[in-house]
Amino acid sequence: MTRRTQVAVVGAGPAGLLLAEVLQRQGVESIVVERRDRAYVEARIRAGVLETGTVEMMRRAGAAERLEREGLTHDGIEIAIDGHRRRVDFRGLVGASVTVYGQTEMTKDLGNRRAASGAETLYEALDVSLHDLETKRPRLQFVRDGREDEIEADFIAGCDGFHGACRPSIPAERLGVYERVYPFAWLGIMADCPPPADELIYARHQRGFALCSMRSRSRARHYLQAAPDEDLDQWSADRIWSEIAIRIGDPQGRLLKTAPLIEKSLTPMRSFVCETMRHGRLFLAGDAAHIVPPTGAKGLNLAASDVHYLSQAIVAFYRSGSQAELDAYPARALARVWKAQRFSWWMTTMLHNAGPGEAFQDKIHRAELDYVLGSPAAQTSLAENYVGLPY
Ligand code: APR
Ligand code: PHB
Repeated sequence: MTRRTQVAVVGAGPAGLLLAEVLQRQGVESIVVERRDRAYVEARIRAGVLETGTVEMMRRAGAAERLEREGLTHDGIEIAIDGHRRRVDFRGLVGASVTVYGQTEMTKDLGNRRAASGAETLYEALDVSLHDLETKRPRLQFVRDGREDEIEADFIAGCDGFHGACRPSIPAERLGVYERVYPFAWLGIMADCPPPADELIYARHQRGFALCSMRSRSRARHYLQAAPDEDLDQWSADRIWSEIAIRIGDPQGRLLKTAPLIEKSLTPMRSFVCETMRHGRLFLAGDAAHIVPPTGAKGLNLAASDVHYLSQAIVAFYRSGSQAELDAYPARALARVWKAQRFSWWMTTMLHNAGPGEAFQDKIHRAELDYVLGSPAAQTSLAENYVGLPY
């Protein structure tokens, strides 16, 4: 049986659900197709620093009620260099702040909104394939509950992440891809204890980068720079806590609270941009089109700005029949993607040790960080990028 809808969305992560619900609120129907089950999608532990624009997009999706109630407003961050911490005051410098709220919570809120609106989200849809992308009737085919199924739509939104099926559906000769893989990874932990400070602490240290973040005031989320092939079995909880304390300038552990780990993982670091964010009636958004190193907390926020531009373009098409905004989508989205890529690359290289044989680079990045921490002008630039450039 072929189902019919206006927009077929592949992927029920933040990008897919946010797009579907923002469109739904503007009268555009969609069906979301997701290969995993809902519990899996909502259990994925991801970053949680939201730009103002992302909070506004959640409002436009009708899913911001818990975020506005439980999200933590942060007016700045602390940056430590060899244990000496200084604060960057976003509110004072650029009159803006960020909201700390787990991305898993955001996905749950969007999932609940979608379930409440009665719109279709087809979980456990396997072997998704895309067809007739260069016609006015593109189609998805997939297998669900052991049966082949199909959706015909006016548009397909590829929101299926870096490892999804949508980007590979674009002919290779049409793909404009840019990539950088970093020579380090993040060893991440989660524990039910308070973070060491009210705001995030980013630390550059001779021993490597560390970040002290949080999901709430009682749930800490911390990261350590590690090798891309780091053996996590060599990292006991005690060793991790001790290393974090050293790198943030708290060697005696007076500030850093500890607790049993509820999660320990290794995340590789890459910058990736697929400039072909459109092929016929297929439009890519979120991680399907770009990946940033997490240092600037931009991944989720770029998904939100893609959704802003793409939803505007789709709504304009249905209201006026004009394709102009659809044609302009890739350039509009990429203008902001590349600025966020630059900021993420800058924060990453400035705060991480570059590794063996890069002594000169390390001296340059140390000097840059030292300059930033002493310059209100440089801190203003950091602040306006961190809180989010305007859409
Ligand atoms: N068919 C259907 N669904 C798929 C397929 C496929 N072939 N491949 C992947 N998916 C689903 C995944 O299971 C996942 O639920 O698409 C979704 C993609 O979600 P994300 O990977 O979270 O990507 P996105 O929604 O773009 O999120 C962007 O949010 O996750 C944070 O910071 C992270 O940068 C990331 C940002
Ligand atoms: C997180 O809380 O997971 C987090 C916060 C800020 C970052 C990256 C990750 O830059």
